[in-house]
Order: sequence, then structure tokens, then C-alpha cells
Amino acid sequence: MRNRTKLCVNFSILENNFNLLKKIAPKNEVLFMVKANAYGHGMVPIVQYSNQRLKIKEFGVATIEEGVYLRDSLNSLKFDIYVFSDIQLDLEVNFNLYRNRRITPVISCLEDLNIFLQSSAFKHLPLVLKFNTGMNRLGLMKTDLIECISLLKKYKRMNITHLMSHFASSFLPIDKIKKTNEQLRCFNEIKRSFRDHGITIEKTSIANSGAIEQKFGLDESHIRPGLMLYGPSSLVEPFRSRNIWEGQNISKLETTIISVFPVKKGDPLGYGAIPSPDDGIIGIISIGYGDGFLSLYQGAKFQYKGSIARVVGRVSMDMAHILFPTSAIKKLHVGETFQIWGHNSLELLDLSDRLKRIPYELFCQLSPRIPRVYNLN
Ligand SMILES: Cc1ncc(COP(=O)(O)O)c(C=O)c1O
Repeated sequence: MRNRTKLCVNFSILENNFNLLKKIAPKNEVLFMVKANAYGHGMVPIVQYSNQRLKIKEFGVATIEEGVYLRDSLNSLKFDIYVFSDIQLDLEVNFNLYRNRRITPVISCLEDLNIFLQSSAFKHLPLVLKFNTGMNRLGLMKTDLIECISLLKKYKRMNITHLMSHFASSFLPIDKIKKTNEQLRCFNEIKRSFRDHGITIEKTSIANSGAIEQKFGLDESHIRPGLMLYGPSSLVEPFRSRNIWEGQNISKLETTIISVFPVKKGDPLGYGAIPSPDDGIIGIISIGYGDGFLSLYQGAKFQYKGSIARVVGRVSMDMAHILFPTSAIKKLHVGETFQIWGHNSLELLDLSDRLKRIPYELFCQLSPRIPRVYNLN
């Protein structure tokens, strides 16, 4: 049996991306963001490889479920797990999950800080605080500082293991965006306030991929890359020409042509009998919205053996129509591979621009139906 569709993940490209990252930020420890199933690439194999081969020791997930799944899947390996968004400290049943599996919640509000400090379950877990310096999503507010400091004093936790913040707009040129600079300034003030009150801070981080690419926020002990390690740059058009990031996509998404037939302009195609926009050859590819190849791909153009092919008609659950020019007839065969994206990051960015999506979405929307196949070359 062949895989009708697969996401091929190449570990040696991940290693290469990591080496490129280390050239940009040689002094920083890496907390690798692997939430949402490692941006769709398969969290467990990605963490296993990153820990064993690349020696990355810290990983960030979004939810406690992801953290528990990761720990239970790779229990024999030594690494730290941080839960960033849905930490659920309001549910006491979770306390033992954190304690027994050595998972660290990233505290982003005073309510959770109170719970964390009060419960003995967290006594031996690192204290990790995330501040909102302008992102306005999750994060302790600067106005919470006084209360935060007095709580730490009250519970005699005079050491913060990791203090974090997060940039809102690092996908834009930092020299043009005042806000990103202001966020860093605000983060430095927060650090200073803690230290002025005798509270020590072991580790700090603020930079995500966009900032790291621009060598910004690297004066902290840690960086928190996600996207760049999977390949693409975060910089958006029209600023991409400033991009110095040379990472390649660790994945390629391939499907199979399962039927080939000629059509005339106006012939009805698939659901809704949508008229073919031109004469040509239809190739039915074995991927559809059930796989994450959503209707947003309708109209998208792809290169295939020197011809331009485009998605026509309505994407079905597990198939889609591709219209090739009539001249492509000799190159089209049932069973051949059709590539949605390859290892070239610039082409993937171009595809996501054309689909009016960000590359994060293209990766994350791939459904579990698509097998992830891992190789070293
Ligand atoms: C708190 C935090 N840090 C770091 C990252 C990594 O961001 P990027 O994938 O843009 O590098 C994310 C991703 O969303 C995040 O939420």
C-alpha cells in the first residue's frame, strides 16, 4: 500500500536549521516551541530528535494535555516542559499532573500565582512568570508588579526561575516598529523592579522567531523559537528582502494523482458541477479538506514538471481537481506524486501569501489523517 498523501519530515534539515539558529544566537539557551503538535509536524518525534540529537533541553507546549502527552510519550528522556496558555490551575485535579510529571505551568495572572504559591504541589516546581509588555493576550500586567512582589515575599519564593514576555509584532522590521522596542524596555523595567526588591531571576526570554532573525532580544539567557526551526522566516512582505534567515522547510507535503482525464472549457467538475475554466487535463489528487487541504486552496497554482497547475472546482473531503494545460498530457500519470510544498521555504511563504494565510496555519491545519513520515536525509 502506498501513502496517498504524506508529510515527509526531514530531521537533517531540522538539524541544519538549528545550526543556523546557533550561529545567530550562539550564547542563548533554546526553549523550542512545539505546541499544536510541533506546528503540525508531530510533537513526539520532533522532541525526541531535538532532545537526543540537538541536545535541546526545554520545550514549550500550549496546554496541559499536550504536556502530559509529551511527558508520558518520552518519559525516559530528560527535558523540561513548559505549558504556556491553557494551564488550568483553577482545577485542583491538575495539581498532581504537574507535580508527578514535572511539567511547569507558565503563570500569567495573579489568580494563578496565588494558587501556585499556596499549594504544596508546586513547592518543588520552578516558578515561571510571563508578563504582558504590550501583546495584550496572556500575561501579568506591569500594574500587577507590586502585588506580585508582595506575594512572592509572603510565600518566601524569592527566586523566579524564568521570567518571560512575548513580542507582538516581531514579524515586522524592528527598526521601524517602536512598539517592539518599547516591549523590550518594559521587560527590562520589570526585571529591574524584581531585582530591586531582592528577588533573583535565573533565566529570562522574550524573543520568538521574528525577533531572533533580526537579532533582537538576544541579551536574555533564553530564546523561544518556533516557526524558524520548522523552516520559514517570520518576516512578512514587503519586508522579506531583509530576511537573513536561511532555514529550509523541514517538511514536504506530497499527495498522489489518482485519476487523469481531459476536459473542455465549461465541463462540470465535482460538487456543484462547477464549470472548468479552460480546456485541459484534470488530475484528481488524493487530498481534501478532511486532510487539511481546505477550500482556501481553490484557485491556488502549483508548478508540476514545468507546467502550471491550478486547483479548480470545489475541494472535496479527500480529493481535489487540478487543471493542467493540455500540453501536460504526456507528463501526467495515475500514481505520480504531486507536491503541495517542498523544502524551499521561500516557495512556501509565497504559497501562504497567495492563500492569504500565514505559514503557521498551513502547517497546523494538516489533520491527523495525514501520516507524518520521518527520515534523516
Ligand atoms: C509564548 C510564545 N513564545 C514563543 C513562541 C514562538 O513563536 P514563533 O513560532 O513565531 O517563533 C510562541 C508561539 O506562538 C509563543 O506563544
